[in-house]
Amino acid sequence: MPRLEDCWFYHTFDFPNIGVIPGNWDLRGRVEAYLGHVHFAGKRVLELGTASGFLALEMEKRGADVVAFDIAENLLPDLVPHASHLPIHAMQLSDNDFYRRLRNSFHFAQEQFGGHATHVTGNIYDLAPSIGLVDVSTFGSILMHLRDPFLALANAARFTRETMIITDRNYETPEYHAMLRAGQPAPVAPMPSSWAFRGYRKLGKLLFGDEIFPSQSLGKPLEVPAMMFLPNIADPELKQKLNSWFAYSPLVLQRMLGILGFADCTLTYHTQKYFSGEELQMFTLVARRTEAQRSRIDGPYPW
Ligand SMILES: C[S@@+](CC[C@H](N)C(=O)[O-])C[C@H]1O[C@@H](n2cnc3c(N)ncnc32)[C@H](O)[C@@H]1O
Repeated sequence: MPRLEDCWFYHTFDFPNIGVIPGNWDLRGRVEAYLGHVHFAGKRVLELGTASGFLALEMEKRGADVVAFDIAENLLPDLVPHASHLPIHAMQLSDNDFYRRLRNSFHFAQEQFGGHATHVTGNIYDLAPSIGLVDVSTFGSILMHLRDPFLALANAARFTRETMIITDRNYETPEYHAMLRAGQPAPVAPMPSSWAFRGYRKLGKLLFGDEIFPSQSLGKPLEVPAMMFLPNIADPELKQKLNSWFAYSPLVLQRMLGILGFADCTLTYHTQKYFSGEELQMFTLVARRTEAQRSRIDGPYPW
């Protein structure tokens, strides 16, 4: 087992004989919200980007058999190749020690709690068929760090029999909120949601298609299917954020999941504790398979 001092913890843990070791995120007590209240008993789960593996342990506790995936030692993460920070970029890319310590934290935590998750490393854009089929796949706070979120989702979709879960940041910046509402008319008084109105709306849909009565008008916040490019050369803290690519509206992810055959989506919001003490807003999308699964999971894209 790795030594505690050789670990870097992304998640906060309360270890049996050691006590609390703080990490970047403290998800303790809020796992149900983070994972969209999905039932894991008897499910085989592929967790993409396990980091210190707190969620792998929690899903196992709830009865799942977990494959915990992370980036392979010989691969580079998707860092933003910002022209004026190329030396920093190169330094970060060569900092394998960070990822070694992160992997150590996973194995340390598994050992401490007697976890059985299989730790698989590789390329999220080219998942190995040997992982095999799973019932559920999870993308916890990883899509924001990827240059090609759709390819990563498509990779997991081909392995997933039932449910895909995405948890990501619901940014509290004016820019993000402007994106969610870009080009939308100001909200009008909430429309009634009685059975008579729902029937009327269904009829409207049948006659005129989806756009006539968008579901947002039923009291949900307005939202567009958009993603925002986060790196900004005007941001003085940019060089500390070279691993952040996109902020998503839940709707853009819902559209991607629909294309991949997971059109039945549930969206929930929650807050989680960041190490600075801040409560950060997040959303979780749970998407159920609505199209039959392809018969093969190997071969070249698009499988
Ligand atoms: C922000 S952490 C999320 C941890 C955990 N899923 C959660 O929700 O608490 C992102 C994880 O994704 C991994 N990761 C980033 N880029 C990756 C890639 N290209 N392939 C596989 N894993 C990647 C990182 O190593 C890290 O463990």
